[in-house]
Amino acid sequence: MNRIQPWSREEIQQRVEALGPWFHNLDLQGVRTAPEHFLGDYPAIKWGRFAHAIPQDLTGLSVLDIGCNAGFYSIEMKRRGAERVLGIDSDEEYLEQARFAADVSGARIEFRKLSVYDLGALGERFDLVLFMGVLYHLRHPLLALDLIHEHVARDLLVFQSMQRGASTVEPVLEDYEFWDEALFDRPSFPRLHFIEHRYAHDPTNWWVPNRACAEAMLRSAGFAITERAEDEVYVCRRVDAPDGAGAVYPARGREP
Ligand SMILES: C[S@@+](CC[C@H](N)C(=O)[O-])C[C@H]1O[C@@H](n2cnc3c(N)ncnc32)[C@H](O)[C@@H]1O
Repeated sequence: MNRIQPWSREEIQQRVEALGPWFHNLDLQGVRTAPEHFLGDYPAIKWGRFAHAIPQDLTGLSVLDIGCNAGFYSIEMKRRGAERVLGIDSDEEYLEQARFAADVSGARIEFRKLSVYDLGALGERFDLVLFMGVLYHLRHPLLALDLIHEHVARDLLVFQSMQRGASTVEPVLEDYEFWDEALFDRPSFPRLHFIEHRYAHDPTNWWVPNRACAEAMLRSAGFAITERAEDEVYVCRRVDAPDGAGAVYPARGREP
């Protein structure tokens, strides 16, 4: 529920401090939430590089922002006229930031504590799903993409992942010979790097794909890439998942 009375600058400043630290550097009526962000004015800088690839007018459409953090993208989607925006995150502290930021921005957005693994609980599909900056934080990244496909994506998916390794992408063949071991040494072959401990001092960074792998995982989960809108950002359309994909194992050992 948004506040009726406008927030004063002093109130905003106090709340921003109380709710910190922030990952999103938002501009809340002139108050910056993370002015010292190690990536600069983030995510505004990134958004500026791919905003053109998302429909300018989202009137009448529904949006799900998975891993919404402090709500930067949720608020931008609402600014583009989305009818309904739901932001979910597994971290209640980020959700508190998001609720406050939306309130100050006058944006009617629902924020809910929910893990990407529990998407099935929503029982709802969305015209546009944002899945940005979350994949590499997951221990089960392909499962998350499968669940998005199976439960919430209706049409468009905007996906972003940190990528490391080669940015060259070789064509993927239908099959490879058992004796062809050289392909595993080729930097342009899809690779998902496992981080046992930490990367960038963050113990929640588990798997970092190279570009070929990020693209292959999307296709494998049933998302056709329509545009690489920025180095790490893809706009995709939901299509039928290839044979063998899907979040749920078929019941094995049962009579047909
Ligand atoms: C790097 S931030 C990305 C935030 C935002 N989507 C963006 O692109 O700027 C990762 C976010 O994913 C959230 N997250 C991590 N694991 C999650 C999970 N299993 N389900 C939902 N959100 C998750 C974190 O709490 C954090 O807010």
